[in-house]
Formats: sequence, C-alpha cells, structure tokens
Amino acid sequence: MVGDPAKRLARRVMRRPLEKAGMVGLVAVAAGAVALVLLVCAASLRCSTAFDYALAAPRKLWSGGVSIAAEASPSERARVNGAAAAAPPPPPPAVGEECDLFDGKWVWDDSYPLYDSRECPFLDPGFRCSENGRPDASYSKWRWQPSRCDLLRFDAKNMLEKLRNRRVVFVGDSIGRNQWESLLCMLSSAVPDKSSIYEINGSPITKHMGFLIFKFRDYNCTVEYYRSPFIVLQGRAPAGAPKVVKYTIRVDAMDWMSGRGRWRDADILIFNTGHWWNYEKTIRGGAYFQERNEVKLKMTVNDAYQRSIRTLFNWLHKEVNTSKTQVIFRTYAPVHFRGGDWRSGGSCHLETLPDVTPLKSLEEWADQLQPVQNVLGSSIRPKLPGLAILNVTQMTAQRKDGHLSIYISPSGPVPLHKQDCSHWCLPGVPDTWNELLYAVFMKRQTMMDQNVSLAGSRTLNTG
Ligand SMILES: *[C@@H]1O[C@H](CO)[C@@H](O)[C@H](O)[C@H]1NC(C)=O
Ligand SMILES: *[C@@H]1O[C@H](CO)[C@@H](O)[C@H](O)[C@H]1NC(C)=O
Ligand SMILES: *[C@@H]1O[C@H](CO)[C@@H](O)[C@H](O)[C@H]1NC(C)=O
Ligand SMILES: *[C@@H]1O[C@H](CO)[C@@H](O)[C@H](O)[C@H]1NC(C)=O
Repeated sequence: MVGDPAKRLARRVMRRPLEKAGMVGLVAVAAGAVALVLLVCAASLRCSTAFDYALAAPRKLWSGGVSIAAEASPSERARVNGAAAAAPPPPPPAVGEECDLFDGKWVWDDSYPLYDSRECPFLDPGFRCSENGRPDASYSKWRWQPSRCDLLRFDAKNMLEKLRNRRVVFVGDSIGRNQWESLLCMLSSAVPDKSSIYEINGSPITKHMGFLIFKFRDYNCTVEYYRSPFIVLQGRAPAGAPKVVKYTIRVDAMDWMSGRGRWRDADILIFNTGHWWNYEKTIRGGAYFQERNEVKLKMTVNDAYQRSIRTLFNWLHKEVNTSKTQVIFRTYAPVHFRGGDWRSGGSCHLETLPDVTPLKSLEEWADQLQPVQNVLGSSIRPKLPGLAILNVTQMTAQRKDGHLSIYISPSGPVPLHKQDCSHWCLPGVPDTWNELLYAVFMKRQTMMDQNVSLAGSRTLNTG
C-alpha cells in the first residue's frame, strides 16, 4: 500500500528545489475562510455534516456557518468566542494514572500547528502539503483532547534538555519516517541555529537510505531513523529454494540493522510496522517467509506478521534493559483510500474534515490490527516492564483529512490516480502522535525523578 507512493516520494524528492512562489497568498486566503467556519464548527459536533454541505455548495457557506452558531448553546458560543479572541492557555499538566490518553476527541485549536514547514529544513518536500499547493490549512489545526485529562503542552526545549546525551531511535516503515521527521521539526523549533542540527554522515534527508541519524549538537542528542518495514530480517532465498522464491522474510530473526544500529542501547526506542504486511508487498513480489532454514511456502501473511511481532517482543525481552531504555510501540496508522485502494482509484483528496461522530469502526483495517492485538493481548507474551503502547489507531482512523493526497510535489498537485492516502501532511497528524510520545516520555521522566529523590531521601535518613 505504501510502497508505490513511497517510491514515488523518493523519486520526486530528488528532482527539484522548492518553488514557493504563487501559492502562498492563495493558501492564506483559503485557510482564513476555512478557519472562520471551522472556528464556529469546532464547538459543535452537528457541524460536520453542515460543513460538508457547505463545501459541496460554496455559496451556502456563510449561512451554514451562521445557522450553526445560532444553534450552539450559550456555553458553546462562549467557548468559540473565547477561542477567537485569544489562543487558549496551555492546559495544566495532568498525568493521571488512570487517564487513557488515547480516548478522546479532536478539537479545533487556532494556536496550532506547532511549527511552520517553511521553517523546518528537515522535511521531505513530499510531506510539505501547504508548500505543495494544498489550499486548506484546517488539517493542521486540530488538537487531540483526551476525555479525562489534558495533554501536556509540547515543550521542545524541555524535551531537548531531558534528551541531553541521549539517543532516540525510530524503527519502522515510511509512516515511522513521517513521524520521525515530525519530531525533528517539533524539536528543532526550539533551536535558533538550525545548522547545529545535522545528519552525522552528511546524508541528505531527501534520499531513501537505510538509516539517518540527526544530531542536536548543543544537546549531544541524536534522533535516529532506521528503515525496517518488517522489523525482522529480509534476505535472499536460501540455496535450493523453489524458483518462485526471490527473497525471504525471516520471521524468527531481527533485522540485521538492530545490531549495527545498536537499537538496544537507545534511550527511547520507538517501533512501528503494518503497512507492508500484505500479499502485494510480500508473496506477490516473490518475498516468502522463512523460519530457521526453511522457506514456509504456505505461511500466510497474517501468521508471518504475528510471528514477527513475537520475534520483536522476545528480542526486547532478552536484549533490552528496560530500566535504561523506554520502549514504545506505535500502533497501525490507518490509510484512507475511499472508493478503492492505492492501485484502483481510491482517493482522499476531497477530505477536509476529520470524522467526528460516530466513532469510526476499525473493521476495515482488521488485517493490520489483529496480528499485533493477538500478541500484545496474549497472556503468554513475555511481560515487558514499562512498555508503552502509542495506540494512535482510533484517533488516526478519524483523520481522513490529514493525508498528502495530491499535494506530494513542489511542482504542484499530481494527477488524481497518483494520490497518496497513506502518508501524512506535515505539520499534521503525526505531530499529535509525538505530543503523545512526549506525554508518555515525560511521565516516565517524572517517575524516575521521584525514584531518584526517594532514593536520595532514604540515603539521608539512614545516613
Ligand atoms: C554524548 O552522548 C552519547 C550518548 O548518545 C554519550 O555516549 C557520550 O558520552 C556523550 N558525550 C558527552 C561529551 O557527554
Ligand atoms: C540497566 O540499566 C540500569 C540503568 O541505566 C543500570 O543501572 C543497570 O545496571 C542495567 N542493568 C544491566 C543488567 O545492564
Ligand atoms: C488500541 O485501541 C483500540 C480502540 O481504541 C483497541 O480496540 C485496541 O485493543 C488497542 N490496541 C492495543 C494494541 O492496545
Ligand atoms: C521506580 O521505583 C519503583 C519502586 O521501586 C519501581 O517499581 C519502578 O519501576 C521505578 N520506576 C522507574 C521508571 O524506574
């Protein structure tokens, strides 16, 4: 699903430098209009249908907006007016033990996005939707609001301080790369001298490489990405394998980069996988599954996926010191090809609003979710103390409006059949995953600080 758009992205990004002229004014005007309507809409769920209607019939746009405002309750109106007058104050930090950060809703927030793509040199041109001509900016204006607590407001400087002398390692497919680039932009927004942030081997970000390691010089911290769509080992077919077998995926062994990249020594280790676990990207292309020396011609993709997730968790259990390393597994981020898939005319280019209600069923992505669910939900899996699941699936399922769609090239919108409904515009939805990452990271930091001071006071008492 991701492969073809991803390859196109790789080819595309090699081509030409950015062209910023022309589009900016248009973007600003259109974004302004959408922002006004959405501001009115944000407080009311009823609004989503009205807004779809408004988009379908642009002349009705303003009357639609006004009638909704009139329907809103006084308290809703007050909230809307308040939001229009000033950006909402940062919510108070609340890290309630029992609060499920992933249960919540998307709310309009005019103070978003957290950065401007034009000020972040660390982004593939393919992710720069606004610079690539996307006329609406509304997809970057939604904040995730957990139901029972507030999310810590992302504080780049604070996170960089906590990451001093440390390594953050992302491992996964190109959606993981999407998230990694988002974090680079979020963190670098606190660093005035962008030249103090660099790839340690001088590799350009726009080339598809096995891995990229960015260093924040003033913090001696690295934020690394290892491209490993299956997380387990890929290789040539063993001698004597049937001719149909061109490659194999070793479901019982970790990617060789796990050693070379010293994944186990990372301070934060973030995995994702899912978009390559399908027939098209494996068996169809001659990639069969292998266990030990044996090619398993009959092993299904789902079984192989599940087996590989077990391999990952066994490896974590055996190799990773979870007192040092915070291990995070980010769940599958749904694709949104409406009316087809990436080969058969599926599209998302007309989507400008999240799905708010009713909660989206995850049924259509069950093949990507079940194998992970089976392992993580299983009582026989090795328990990994401190494992954090970034369960972004549900919230992301609601964001059909956040994909690149046709805005994947600096030279302007691409033909509809080339659109990408897998990857995400930046700034955009992956920023929210990183806000959640920040919350989960800070929670652990707070616990560790408490442990240290507890240990300190114990020493004092006995001494
Ligand atoms: C820089 O960070 C690395 C870990 O990423 C650490 O091994 C090294 O000692 C640090 N250097 C200094 C000067 O603190
Ligand atoms: C695991 O990491 C902790 C914290 O860095 C360290 O104190 C401990 O010695 C490590 N354990 C092993 C077995 O390396
Ligand atoms: C993630 O959340 C969904 C629904 O919100 C739930 O069905 C699923 O079990 C969760 N997955 C994991 C791995 O925790
Ligand atoms: C803090 O200490 C408690 C109790 O000693 C322990 O269970 C917990 O794992 C520690 N947390 C961290 C993050 O080290």
